[in-house]
Amino acid sequence: MRIKSWVSVLAMWMMVSLLYGQEVSVVPMPQSIKSLNSSFYFGNHITIQESDFDNGQISHYLQQEIHDRFGIYTKIVAAEGDVVFVYDEGFSSESYSLKIDENIQINGDDAGLFYGIQTLLQLMADAEEGSTKFQLPTLEIEDSPAFQWRGIMLDESRHFFGKEVVLELLRWMAFYKLNVFHWHLTDSPGWRIEIKKYPYLTLIGGIGDDHHPHQKAQFYTQEEIKEIVAYAQNLHIEVVPEIDMPGHATSVNKAYPVFSGGGSERFPEFTLHPIKDTVATFLTDVLKEVDALFPSQKIHIGGDEVHFGNHAWKTDSLVVDWMKANHTSSLVDVEHYFLNRMADSVSGLNNTLLGWDEVVNAGLPIDNTIIYWWRHDRLDALTNALDAGYPVVLCPRIPLYLDFDQDESHRFGRKWGGRFADLKTIYHFPEDTLYADTHSDQILGLQGNIWTERIANRHRLMYMTFPRIAAVAEAGWAKSDNKDFNLFFHRLEHHMPWYEEGEIYFYDVFDPESTPEPVMIEGR
Ligand code: ACM
Repeated sequence: MRIKSWVSVLAMWMMVSLLYGQEVSVVPMPQSIKSLNSSFYFGNHITIQESDFDNGQISHYLQQEIHDRFGIYTKIVAAEGDVVFVYDEGFSSESYSLKIDENIQINGDDAGLFYGIQTLLQLMADAEEGSTKFQLPTLEIEDSPAFQWRGIMLDESRHFFGKEVVLELLRWMAFYKLNVFHWHLTDSPGWRIEIKKYPYLTLIGGIGDDHHPHQKAQFYTQEEIKEIVAYAQNLHIEVVPEIDMPGHATSVNKAYPVFSGGGSERFPEFTLHPIKDTVATFLTDVLKEVDALFPSQKIHIGGDEVHFGNHAWKTDSLVVDWMKANHTSSLVDVEHYFLNRMADSVSGLNNTLLGWDEVVNAGLPIDNTIIYWWRHDRLDALTNALDAGYPVVLCPRIPLYLDFDQDESHRFGRKWGGRFADLKTIYHFPEDTLYADTHSDQILGLQGNIWTERIANRHRLMYMTFPRIAAVAEAGWAKSDNKDFNLFFHRLEHHMPWYEEGEIYFYDVFDPESTPEPVMIEGR
């Protein structure tokens, strides 16, 4: 270990142990914590000063959270509150300071103030465990994130979880300062987003999931999507929709066979037709409705694993003619043609295009495309993306696919060559990844992806997500020289009772025997 690292670990030990008497278990680890060696008592008499820069929104949010989490009613006052918010444009985005001394003062921009509250709520949850309720340590925290993109992806095509579960996940994301919810809304097993111009997408394409092909149609109406997106916005979470194309499209072809590009024996009706103008028009219409629902101005169009099911393209007369006319014998060129057409549609909607790393060689515009590196065994896809100048989100299967097992002994999740995604490996990401240092300005951040082929219900969803979501959060927030797994592990232990209070069935890394792995589907 380098000397600098030793020094910073020692400093962190001192910082945390100074505060141990009053337990500071904040995750993700703040950039710096200075103890002021005293206590602040928080109770019913506490007042919150109404924030005057946002019509009181942030102060009312804190009031509500304290009430919902701790059953304490705090009064909002016009001046001289015990909790004061200072809107400070001098702070870079998402950074904040929190000082607990004679009173509690949080400074930051919109997101920064919000994150200051999350830190305060964690400190309060900690203090609740002590002998005196809400005896907070006096301290000064200065905090800012390592990465601007700290995401969770949820696949609702393989299995559908519904609004309440999504809102619950968003609340936990906010608690851990995660700020992007990537919503995988369409894939072969089911189409989950209402598109008014093409109602069969949900009425027919929404039927079935990975375990029950005849499950009645499950999907989000546009009204529900608006509600979820607005809810996320209040939690400073950006929602990025994914409409996967031209592969992973069996559900579309079930609804509208006329758009099919065929499939393979293993993946029937897997693709959309890559050449037909009617398909490009159909998809552009879909994307228009998607764009209107999601203020992120970003649309993920998938682009992954097309070769799984594009075999029929070889004998399709339109594709064959196109290949002849363009002097190519490669289906990858056909795929790239399709992607560029869709990129035109996406930029025509004034959106940024996001795609899985297969799209890296398609020649998509550098200034309007974000690449997601997911194939951990294809480092070349990452280096190609970075060398070409694309911004990149890191989500390699190992360690960031949360459908992978958390422990050697687990049986129902995935493993790859015996490897899986344990808490520690997630925590140490991305320090070990080549190129993360050399092109750091292009690495937007990272996200944990919850694929749900092997997750069929909320119970198992939570088990696969908790506590690894905390490691994803700290990997995304804490700067590398401020990370130490042992200290994280110590702090994390305090979060287990919080999960219990939230009625979350989690993998208890401290007592694994007590939380057996749930099966994928009851009765199987
Ligand atoms: C993926 O896992 N197919 C992006």
